[in-house]
Amino acid sequence: MGDVFNSVSLKYAYRLLHPKLTVLIACYDEYNVPNAMTAAWIMPVSVNPPLIVVSISSKRYTYELILKAKIFSVNIPALNMLKKVHLCGTISGREIKNKLKRIGLTTINGRKLNVPIIEECIAFLECKLWENVAAGDHNLIIGKIIDAYVKDNIFDVIYDFSKISLIYHCGGGMYTKLTNEVIRV
Ligand SMILES: Cc1cc2nc3c(=O)[nH]c(=O)nc-3n(C[C@H](O)[C@H](O)[C@H](O)COP(=O)(O)O)c2cc1C
Repeated sequence: MGDVFNSVSLKYAYRLLHPKLTVLIACYDEYNVPNAMTAAWIMPVSVNPPLIVVSISSKRYTYELILKAKIFSVNIPALNMLKKVHLCGTISGREIKNKLKRIGLTTINGRKLNVPIIEECIAFLECKLWENVAAGDHNLIIGKIIDAYVKDNIFDVIYDFSKISLIYHCGGGMYTKLTNEVIRV
């Protein structure tokens, strides 16, 4: 007997590619007030030059800020920040001024670029806008990594999953985590 293939509504087809690592994209506004949004549609696209892409809807305040500032940070939160990360992805800085402060997240300045980095996170990329490519109802924001750093001893070529757990977005308000097992082949 052959397999049964159940159709997936095209509305949810992208979720067949989830869970995805979930990050916070941060940027200053013109008065140097920091804002950040949650993003799961992010991935590396080039090693040399080091490029990443994050798919951002033009409705996001963050999109507007990145186009103006041309620089932004990618902040990787640990699982203990889940509630705050979810809030960052459901509230817009356009409506709630000082969104990060309201949520209880603090920022400091990046090491190389004038971008906010979120202190509570564990790993950081400082990026310069490389290109902005329209793609349907989102935009591919390609960033060149200018600086990258992590806290403590949680990363040595790969993450040490015995020390940290990251956030993976399944879809909607649903998340998951990885086991700390690393399989070597
Ligand atoms: C887990 C999660 C992942 C998200 N991923 C993305 C994403 O990759 N791209 C995007 O445009 N919006 C994404 N969003 C939605 C934005 O984070 C959300 O609209 C946010 O409120 C925008 O904030 P801003 O208007 O202050 O920029 C995500 C939301 C959540 C909760």
